[in-house]
Amino acid sequence: PSLAALVTDLPACELHVHLEGTLEPELLLGLAARNGIELPTTTVEEVRATHVFDSLASFLAVYYPAMEVLQTRRDFFDLATAYLTRAAAQNVRRAEMFFDPQAHTSRGVPFEVVVEGLLDAVERAPGELGIDAELILCFLRDHPVASAEETLTAALPYAGRILGVGLDSDERDHPPADFAAVFARARAAGFKLTMHCDIDQQGTLEHLRQVIEDIAVDRIDHGSNIVDAPDLLAVAVQRGLGFTACPLSNGFVTEQMKAPEIVTLLRAGAKVCVNGDDPAYFGGYLKENLAALAAAADLSAADVVQLARNSFEASWAPSERIAEYL
Ligand code: ADE
Ligand code: ZN
Repeated sequence: PSLAALVTDLPACELHVHLEGTLEPELLLGLAARNGIELPTTTVEEVRATHVFDSLASFLAVYYPAMEVLQTRRDFFDLATAYLTRAAAQNVRRAEMFFDPQAHTSRGVPFEVVVEGLLDAVERAPGELGIDAELILCFLRDHPVASAEETLTAALPYAGRILGVGLDSDERDHPPADFAAVFARARAAGFKLTMHCDIDQQGTLEHLRQVIEDIAVDRIDHGSNIVDAPDLLAVAVQRGLGFTACPLSNGFVTEQMKAPEIVTLLRAGAKVCVNGDDPAYFGGYLKENLAALAAAADLSAADVVQLARNSFEASWAPSERIAEYL
């Protein structure tokens, strides 16, 4: 088969998708109508016209205001169900999905409304849609640490139904170390740990060092500039740490897909995989990201198969379940 057919058909696992980043213009407008919200944009074309980004900050400035349309438990159910339906149609067999509770609680939506709505979708996904689904709660790193602590406390009753915690939003001036105590408490409560580690600037390698050596995360989101620190990369490979690459969003946020770095990780034996990130905003879901990387890096069929295999092996599924997926 052609490489394009292989990319389409291969089973894969999604480990880096922000549910709020799957809010397609059609659903945004539908939820606004249902909730009686007047938006500055009233057509799909107008919404899409706001999706012009040249930095993480310019993306976040569109991403957070759009969430205002998400208000009820049913809205959060519909958001996650729409994503899971699309993912299942792409042969994604499992999705460990981020959500940003502080982006909702900070505007008055109760934590329980967000989580219960998302869990309604997660629990229905295997039977109704043929996809396994899990949630990862992300703390917003540009909010105070005390707010992350409060959010973790609210999540404690859901330990076991929420698989892990992550760290996202604007990384500049918000190093992983600031959140070390929150993450230690989350680990003690049974949550898996991951963090975005992405900024393309001086200081990034120090952030990677913190997540690997000090916090000892169970996975790293982005993180491809670890290729500049061979000693850290060797530790990551030895630990079997997953790296969740997102080529299309990198193309906007860091001005390049990071294809050479992703290939270096693959060749070094790191468990790097390809993901969607914010697919409603950056032009593609998991398989469009895989196709874009395959074209940019001239990947072989064996490379594409290895990336898909890595996606399952870097997942937090029980090992016997991983064996079934493979
Ligand atoms: N939150 C949602 N998408 C994000 C991204 N690409 N980087 C950091 N924080 C995010
Ligand atoms: Zn992300």
